[in-house]
Amino acid sequence: MHDPETVWDFAMADQLKFGLEASTELGDELEARGVDSALVVTDEQLRETGVVEDALSSVPADLEVTIFEGVEPDPAVDVYESALEAAADVDPDAIVGVGGGSSLDVAKVTGALADTDRDLLEYVAPPIGGGEPVPASETVVFALPTTAGTGAESSPAAVVSLPDRELKVGISSRHLYPDLAVVDPLLTVSLPPSITAASGMDALTHAIEAYTTRRYDTKKSVEHASERANYGGRTAMTDMYAKQAIELIGGSLQRAVNNGEDVEARRDMALGSVLAGIAFTNAGLGATHAMAYPIAGENHTPHGVTVAALLPSVMRYNASTAYDRYGTIAELLGESLEGASDREAGERAAIAVESLCADIGIPDGLAELGVEDDDIPRLAEKTAEIQRLLIGNPRRVTTDDLESIFADAL
Ligand SMILES: [Fe+2]
Repeated sequence: MHDPETVWDFAMADQLKFGLEASTELGDELEARGVDSALVVTDEQLRETGVVEDALSSVPADLEVTIFEGVEPDPAVDVYESALEAAADVDPDAIVGVGGGSSLDVAKVTGALADTDRDLLEYVAPPIGGGEPVPASETVVFALPTTAGTGAESSPAAVVSLPDRELKVGISSRHLYPDLAVVDPLLTVSLPPSITAASGMDALTHAIEAYTTRRYDTKKSVEHASERANYGGRTAMTDMYAKQAIELIGGSLQRAVNNGEDVEARRDMALGSVLAGIAFTNAGLGATHAMAYPIAGENHTPHGVTVAALLPSVMRYNASTAYDRYGTIAELLGESLEGASDREAGERAAIAVESLCADIGIPDGLAELGVEDDDIPRLAEKTAEIQRLLIGNPRRVTTDDLESIFADAL
């Protein structure tokens, strides 16, 4: 009789085009799919930098392009609704998301729901939403990331903010994978150092959490109870992606922060981010991401900075579940394990992350993000509700444990 926990699924987007100047093939890809009109989903600030124009440079002049530039960071329901309205006005053959995770999420959802007239919240997982399955859509969706970090181009999910409830919720479905992700590292060259650092640490956290998740039954996690897989957690397949991502990011993040025009570093970061995205969307995440959400909700801190400030403390808490894995992380980040006991190997992995953060100017604790001692019990309680992420954490975490980890990360 087979043990269901040893059976695993693996899924990713249909097609990925990666490499320097990959975006110059965008026009051909649109034409190959018979696209006559496209709605570009992006944000105003990015458009002002000229990056959107660069990304679209190969689009033929006779293809009708409309730009929706109303995406905001942590997009709320109204942003998604505006994009859907723009799509209803234009009735495009394709939606092209250009930007960070927020623009790509809005593009994915707009493409999937363009032909429906339903309320966005119907597709959000219960108990907040109706849990309605996302339909297959005729609209072609392309994703062109201009940051290296969120993994949104590799993911079958989108995050929707509910600001009045200080909450973020997800829509998840295999129909949310973009039809084509075009990852051109040159589109990230003008990213300022602070965003390079924060988004890069987000990608590293995705890879490290994916590499250390435990196997779990996704049916116990509403968020992941999609058509995708019966079990989540790390597998032989996700380990490959996660390890390669940790090594690439560890070897290039500091260089990309120090010199944004270091094209080789930008390429390694872009690839590391894609691989980390594929790893975590299959393996799941853990306590670092769970703990980051309530902080970001209350203090409006950038996601990448928040996870980075928590990661070493969560790694120290989890290391005893798999010292060998933490040792591997330390080595992939360039630390030597010579003479290290199992326990020290785990510690060296956490130290490697801390020194990377210090080198790239990421705050080394939650206090710098405005978190205070008195906030901890409330943050721990809010985190304990995020079982969809805690379920994959390799070590069990109670509310008391969460309080200790928050205190350690202060
Ligand atoms: Fe993240």
